[in-house]
Order: sequence, then structure tokens, then C-alpha cells
Amino acid sequence: MSASNAGQRRQSVSVSPNVAIVPNSPTQLAAALATSPPAISSFSASYELRRTANPPYAGKALAPFPVRQEPAKLLLLENINATAVKMLKDAGYHVEEIKKALGEDELIQKLRDGGFTAVGIRSKTKITARVISEVPSLLVIGCFCIGTNQVDLLAAARAGISVFNSPFSNSRSVAELVISEVIALSRQLCDRAREMREGIWNKVSKGCWEVRGKTLGIVGYGHIGSQLSVLSEAMGMSVIYYDVVPIMPLGSARQVDSLDDLLAQADFLTLHVPELPETKNMIGGAEIAKMKDGAYLINNARGKVVDIPALIDGLKSGKLAGAAVDVFPAEPAANGPNFGDSLNDWSSELRSCPNLILTPHIGGSTEEAQSMIGAEVGGALIRYLNYGSTIGSVNFPEVSLRPILHDGTVRLCHVHLNQPGVLKVVNGILGEHNVEKQFSDSKGDIAYLLADIGGVDEAEIKEIYEAISSSRANIATRMLF
Ligand SMILES: NC(=O)c1ccc[n+]([C@@H]2O[C@H](COP(=O)([O-])OP(=O)(O)OC[C@H]3O[C@@H](n4cnc5c(N)ncnc54)[C@H](O)[C@@H]3O)[C@@H](O)[C@H]2O)c1
Repeated sequence: MSASNAGQRRQSVSVSPNVAIVPNSPTQLAAALATSPPAISSFSASYELRRTANPPYAGKALAPFPVRQEPAKLLLLENINATAVKMLKDAGYHVEEIKKALGEDELIQKLRDGGFTAVGIRSKTKITARVISEVPSLLVIGCFCIGTNQVDLLAAARAGISVFNSPFSNSRSVAELVISEVIALSRQLCDRAREMREGIWNKVSKGCWEVRGKTLGIVGYGHIGSQLSVLSEAMGMSVIYYDVVPIMPLGSARQVDSLDDLLAQADFLTLHVPELPETKNMIGGAEIAKMKDGAYLINNARGKVVDIPALIDGLKSGKLAGAAVDVFPAEPAANGPNFGDSLNDWSSELRSCPNLILTPHIGGSTEEAQSMIGAEVGGALIRYLNYGSTIGSVNFPEVSLRPILHDGTVRLCHVHLNQPGVLKVVNGILGEHNVEKQFSDSKGDIAYLLADIGGVDEAEIKEIYEAISSSRANIATRMLF
């Protein structure tokens, strides 16, 4: 769908206590606008509902204009965590859950027939440009996971649909897995455990070490790397790290100047960098050769960061005393016996290496991480629907305003095309009124403006809404008060 079509089609109007919906047609738009909204003072029921809902935002709870009493509708797919479900229900929304992912046709039908305002997914449901163009009621998408590849982010932005995810809620889980791997590798735990399962008693201490006093080298001192730094120091390890940016060390950790410095000093080298062109095969044969003899390599970051054939050579030659790998260049799409040579041609050779821990990308897979993802994305949906805040959005500029603390102020949420002269038009419309605060930002084609307008009555709100939502660059407009 082109941006201009989106602009014409998405003349949005708010009709439920918590959220705006986008009418399918000009007739529906007119009908929605013609609905005589109750006076502001009669919104106490929905207001109270949200007041008791622990919304993750301070200040006065906001309702959209105009208001009807049906709750906003959210469809949650793929067994989304109970924390999120409770949070969204407590916020007064109508929440429908489906345990599995839906295919494109099924999804379109379900969302369109139900008039859903928001959809929550994990990694299996694809929100394509077709889904977006066929479901005009959709205002927001919550990805209750780390990645957002499953959503056509550009099509969503051009249709005025904000997308939220939770990139860092599982940092602690990954850090804890690495700690377990550091100890397990230095005690050859997985080999001993496998031997016992095969009935082999192999009581050895040669090549098994305490981790106390050893050096942990962290590549990438971000959310995970820094958590790991604190945990490993508590076990008596020395921590050094390499990062492309200077980062304040936690505890007694020390940043080194180059990757080579880290390779030369680390007993355990652990990777926590994003997948970027410059991190592809960041650790290959040349880097492994620069590591200490008998060092360990741990990769819980991204599969392409380590050259796996070089790792196999390092383990088989004895240069490396062990390794743990949680992520792979190609990973199976489903659970089952799928980690074979047809996926990665070195798979069986890798599986035959000594003191090697292989895990199926479970670094962030804990109940706690799921719950935190639920709380983070659930909170982002509520803040967007109820307050217009796009903090944490992956496809909109991030815009938020201080809370509204008193009655009589309305918040304009205006998604529009990033074109010259748009703000002049908007401010021409708002110019007659008292704009208490205003903030706008753009990201590519899309711009988003929040403005709090004080001292306006219901007729003026309607007038502002109609003028802005029919302006040339409009994609979606909501008024919250
Ligand atoms: N195994 C899992 O289940 C799992 C779970 C979560 C995250 N991850 C992965 O872990 C990695 C780290 O995640 P995070 O949340 O800590 O990310 P982050 O963005 O918080 O930190 C990444 C750090 O790497 C640094 N960096 C970037 N390029 C670098 C380079 N070339 N050399 C050195 N440092 C560089 C950045 O400056 C940043 O400090 C990511 O790749 C993420 O996808 C894996």
C-alpha cells in the first residue's frame, strides 16, 4: 500500500474507552464522528477502570475522543505470557487469546471480523503488508519477543501502526547461562555426564579447573556483557572486556584497547555483540590462534559471529580446551531432529568435538524472561493506546510527553508523512488554542507529533480532530483526554 493511500484511508477516529479505531470507509468515519460523545464528566466508569489498572505511566488516565463504552480489542496469539494477559485485561481491554500462530488468510479474517485494535504475536506469526492493508482497524502490534523480522515494519509505519518489542528483557537469562557454561566447561561437566549415562565411570581431575582467579574476556559490554561482568566477579574471576565504544566498567572490570589484547589475556572468551557486517566471523582461525592455549570460547550472541569450521579445528587440535555454542548460522525452524548436515554441512563434525556444549538457542529462554517480555511489551501497548507514547517503538520515531495532570487538556497524537510544511499546517490549526506542550520527530517517511492542548471544550476537540485528520499528510490521528 502506498503512503498516500495509507494517508487517505487511515482517517482514524477514537471510539472506545481506551483506544482509537480506524473506520473502514468514509461512511463509517462520518458515522463515528456523528456519534454524539458523552460529556467528559460522564467518562468516570472507564476512567476508574484504568485508574485501578496500574498503568505504567503517571498522571491522569486518558480516554480517546469520541468515546463509546466498548473496550479496545486485543488479539494475543502464540501463547503469550500470563503477565501480559493480566496486565492488558487489568487495563480494561477486551483480550482474546489463541495459543497457536495463524497463517496470513486466517489472521486477516480473524482480525478483520473481530475489529481488533491491537495484535500481540511472538516469532511465528507473520504480519505482512497484506495483513496490514486488509485490517484497517489495527493501530498497534506487540511482538512479545526479541526480534521483529516477522513484521513488515515499513508497511506498518506507513499505515500508522506502531510496532513494539522487547529486545533486552532476557539479558539476565543469557548471562546466567554463560556462568553455568564457564563452570561446566572448566570441569568438563557435559563429557562426564554423558559418559555416566553411557555407564562409564571416568573420575579425572586433569584438565579440570576452578574458575576462581581465571580471566573472563567479554566481547561486547552491553546489556548481557555487563550483567555477566558482575556475576563472574562474584565468583572470583577477573573481568576484562573489549567494546567498540568506551563503557564505564562495573566493579573491578577493565576495558582493553583491542580485541587482540582480549584474546591474549582471556582464559574464557565470551561473545555478546550484535550481528553486523563487522562482527561476521569476528572469531575465526586467526583469532583462535591468538588465544591462550587451553582457553575456552563461548558464543551465545549470534550464529555468524564465529567461524564454526575454525572452532572445530581449534577444539580438535587441543588449542581450545572447550567451547559452548547456543547460536548457529542456520537454525532449524522447528523442534525435532533437525540439527543435521543438511542445515549446516559441518554439523556432525561439530557434534563429535570434545568438551563442547551445544544448546538450541536457549540463552534467553526462561520463564522469567518471558514474564519480563510480557510486562515490557504489555506496558508499551498500554502507554501507546492510552497515552500516545511511542517510547520503545521499532518503526516510529520515539515521542512522549509529560503526563497530563488535570482535566480540560486534550492530547493530539498525529502520525503523518514526513513532508515539508506539515507542522505549519498543524500549528495553523492549533494556533488558536493553548498548546501546553508539543513534541514531534521523524523516522524515514514517517513523523509523529504529540501535542497537549489546554482549555478546549468538546466541540473544539471535534473541530481540531476533523481538521487534522483530513490534512494532506495525515496517516492516523487520535485525540486522548
Ligand atoms: N542466545 C540467546 O538466546 C540470546 C538472547 C538475547 C540476546 N542475544 C544476542 O546477544 C547479543 C548481545 O545482546 P545485548 O542485549 O547485550 O546487546 P547490546 O546491544 O546491549 O550490547 C552489544 C554491545 O556490543 C558492542 N559492539 C558492537 N559491535 C562491536 C564490535 N564490532 N566489537 C566489539 N563490541 C561491539 C556494542 O557497543 C554494545 O555495547 C546480541 O547479538 C543478541 O542478539 C542472544
